[in-house]
Amino acid sequence: MSEQLSEKGAVRREVIGKAVLAAGAEILKFDPSNLAVEVKSTEGDFVTAADLASEKVVVDMLAAVLRDDLVISEETSAGQELLTAERLPELTGWVIDPIDGTNNFKHGMGYSGVSLGYIENGEILLGAIFDPYRDELYLAERGGGVTRNGQPITIGKKTAFDAATRVCTSNSYEGGTIANLERFAKLGHVWVDVLGSSVLIMTDVAAGRLDLYHHNGLKPWDNAAGFLIVQEAGGKITDLTGQPVTWLTSEVVMGNPALVDAFIAATN
Ligand code: IPD
Ligand code: CA
Ligand code: CA
Repeated sequence: MSEQLSEKGAVRREVIGKAVLAAGAEILKFDPSNLAVEVKSTEGDFVTAADLASEKVVVDMLAAVLRDDLVISEETSAGQELLTAERLPELTGWVIDPIDGTNNFKHGMGYSGVSLGYIENGEILLGAIFDPYRDELYLAERGGGVTRNGQPITIGKKTAFDAATRVCTSNSYEGGTIANLERFAKLGHVWVDVLGSSVLIMTDVAAGRLDLYHHNGLKPWDNAAGFLIVQEAGGKITDLTGQPVTWLTSEVVMGNPALVDAFIAATN
């Protein structure tokens, strides 16, 4: 029986939204100003007790109903060695980002989210992202569209760059933000946002609030739900030469297909 029709498939569809909602509620219990940080790759990249608590909520909820499923999470390195192009076709399991936008969270910026993707044979089948600050739950299923709090959403309508076209990048731990902004400079007069949560940027692109996202520092757990959410909203995701990508790719551009094509043409 295919995954789509199986009993476990129904359980996965049910648990994915509940898990990100519970994790988002967990995050809001913390007072970020009192949280210690443990630095990871660079000074701006850190983990807090809230990241670990959120991760535990998701891991425990998945284990309670699907104890044989593989779970890969950002803050627990087990399983991350499976996230390679060679092993991708055999990868089946969950990928968690327990707080995307930890730096924002710590600074009280109110723009952070929880992301959970279910991958089957390398392809994202289900994606959920919850924004606990705006109380917005995004759910996508491959071939089944995407909703925000139950209502279908679609990608923005802009197909060319002008002063009202909102292009967005996010802060890069590796220092790549300036390179992204230099590409934006080639687009002429556009509206530029630099935000601190790749998963919420992807939901805002999927919902047409932002027109285009370009970043060069994405990790698989940033993409494991957001890529499906953007694609199911009608968006296109490519590398900087316009070639297709997988959710393991770190340097991408996404948005309305015609706008992505215009970005590739203007920056190459
Ligand atoms: C980061 C944020 C940031 C983006 C980075 C991500 P984290 O995730 O989404 O906005 O620019 O590339 O790694 O560390 O907050 O989960
Ligand atoms: Ca992240
Ligand atoms: Ca994170």
